[in-house]
Amino acid sequence: MMIDGEEHRALWFEEDSVKFIDQRKLPHKFEVFTAKNVDDIIFAIKNMVVRGAPAIGAAAAYGMALGKKQLNNVDVTAEKLRSTRPTAYDLFYAVEYMLSKIKNGEDPLSAASAYVEDIVERCRRIGENGKRLIRRGMRILTHCNAGALATVDYGTALAPIRLAHRDGIEIFVYVDETRPRLQGLLTSWELKHEGIEHMVIVDNAAGYFMKKGEIDMVIVGADRIAKNGDFANKIGTYEKAVLARENNIPFYVAAPKSTFDMSIPDGDSIEIEERDNMEILGGIGSSRIMPGWIRVRNPAFDVTPAKYVTGYITEEKIIKK
Ligand code: MRU
Repeated sequence: MMIDGEEHRALWFEEDSVKFIDQRKLPHKFEVFTAKNVDDIIFAIKNMVVRGAPAIGAAAAYGMALGKKQLNNVDVTAEKLRSTRPTAYDLFYAVEYMLSKIKNGEDPLSAASAYVEDIVERCRRIGENGKRLIRRGMRILTHCNAGALATVDYGTALAPIRLAHRDGIEIFVYVDETRPRLQGLLTSWELKHEGIEHMVIVDNAAGYFMKKGEIDMVIVGADRIAKNGDFANKIGTYEKAVLARENNIPFYVAAPKSTFDMSIPDGDSIEIEERDNMEILGGIGSSRIMPGWIRVRNPAFDVTPAKYVTGYITEEKIIKK
């Protein structure tokens, strides 16, 4: 992704460490977080220094390489990484990939770097395939951040938007704010640097704009897609899909192979992460949105049934029903 005229990735390997654009600080500050060992990688994934399914997978791949070098116990490292976040399939896919490469005697760092290059290329191809759906003047809604930050580069949902814009196609993006972690602000940050016209709306406003005829298409990413096409994505995706159907708006899911979990039959088998209540109760810095006695629940994802999906934009093709 281009940031102030320079090419950047969400994470990269440099001087024996993994560097991350610290997503906890964006869009206010651009800071780099350095992970020197597996525990630092685990911290980064759990605390959302890095987030988004393919980027978590890339972090885990490098985590396996660091674990092999520093602890020489890949099975323990694999187990520690698998227990960081339960929903995004890319994490488990990347750990399995690394285990098989290491057990085949391949150099772990080369294998991790190859994994990351591969995921970047897959996202670029998602962009190439998906941009064919985009017409001049379209107004596209997206939820959460499924951009370069979430995938190392290009994005999944944002890849078609990014590449269409680079081809000179004028578009406008409605960006859901995405309570409670406000990943919409990360999307806004990426779109601003790409020069793409957009605005952030609160999550509850999406139906309002759909009903007024101001949204032509919805594109979202995915954290895990089951065999029947049901998929988990950021909390609030399900209701956007139902509203899109109600308003006859095409609803697309963009994801690479590493997000498709063919071992589970449907969305009922997807484990949904519940995160710390402070994500809802807390505010900016030390301020509070709600007093601590208020009971809350904080599911980070929901499952959208396949029947609401117009098509899946993958690196191979657009899979329509
Ligand atoms: O909790 P997060 O921020 O890791 O959740 C990320 C999402 O839900 C994205 O939309 C998803 O990973 C798809 S993206 C590439």
